[in-house]
Amino acid sequence: MRTKIIAGNWKMNLTLTESTKLIHQLNFSSDNENIRVLVIPPFTNLEAIKRLLKNKNSKIEVAAQNLHHSVSGAYTGEISARMLKDIGVDTAIVGHSERRTLFAENDETISLKASSALSQNLEIIYCFGESLIQRKRGIHFEIIARQLDDLIHKFETQYWRYGKIILAYEPVWAIGTGQTASKEQAQEMHQFIRHLIGKEIGEDLATKTPILYGGSVKPENATELFQQPDVDGGLIGGASLNADSFNLIIQSIAENC
Ligand code: PGA
Repeated sequence: MRTKIIAGNWKMNLTLTESTKLIHQLNFSSDNENIRVLVIPPFTNLEAIKRLLKNKNSKIEVAAQNLHHSVSGAYTGEISARMLKDIGVDTAIVGHSERRTLFAENDETISLKASSALSQNLEIIYCFGESLIQRKRGIHFEIIARQLDDLIHKFETQYWRYGKIILAYEPVWAIGTGQTASKEQAQEMHQFIRHLIGKEIGEDLATKTPILYGGSVKPENATELFQQPDVDGGLIGGASLNADSFNLIIQSIAENC
């Protein structure tokens, strides 16, 4: 059975005081080894939140929202994979659509980041998704295949084999808009992605790679999305900032495992 994952991307929200309060309100104590819950705070809170979760004996993990592709150097304001590893962070988001649109990251820079993270032994949550115009033009499958191209063709299969790659399909038109992909749209795309991986790098790896859905997931739509055979959980933005809604979303994945 594939691992089910709920990851809360806090983006540039929550001070350390607010994050600490939220962590104390989260309930995740499942003994099911197949379920993982991650919180993804801003860089400034990573170490403290990690320590807090450890002290609470919590199974919730911590991930980073971004990283720079170089190991070190004159890159004011940036953080490297090596720095994340050094504070015990083992997972990072790469390629979030806000990085693509607001910070001009393109497939090339995202590929460099993914490569740097994987070579430093970080696990990545690799985000990709089509825009509304691309979906309306009917080219969404083509766009997704292109966004996954490097990961599938240029990266060593060992990263897939060692389970270092989590995929997150996040249609740009659904992020922070309140407009979610329907369960049919999500399943159709996830099935396409799994088929693509199967064809290009092997059925066994396609079967075991988690593919998350992201884009306005909330307690009201979480269950129907997570019930889809190829949807292995969610990357949650807005609804992860509130304990009630995030707890309900965690509960939905537990019920569908
Ligand atoms: P949202 O964000 O849940 O607020 O739409 C999802 C994301 O950006 O990962």
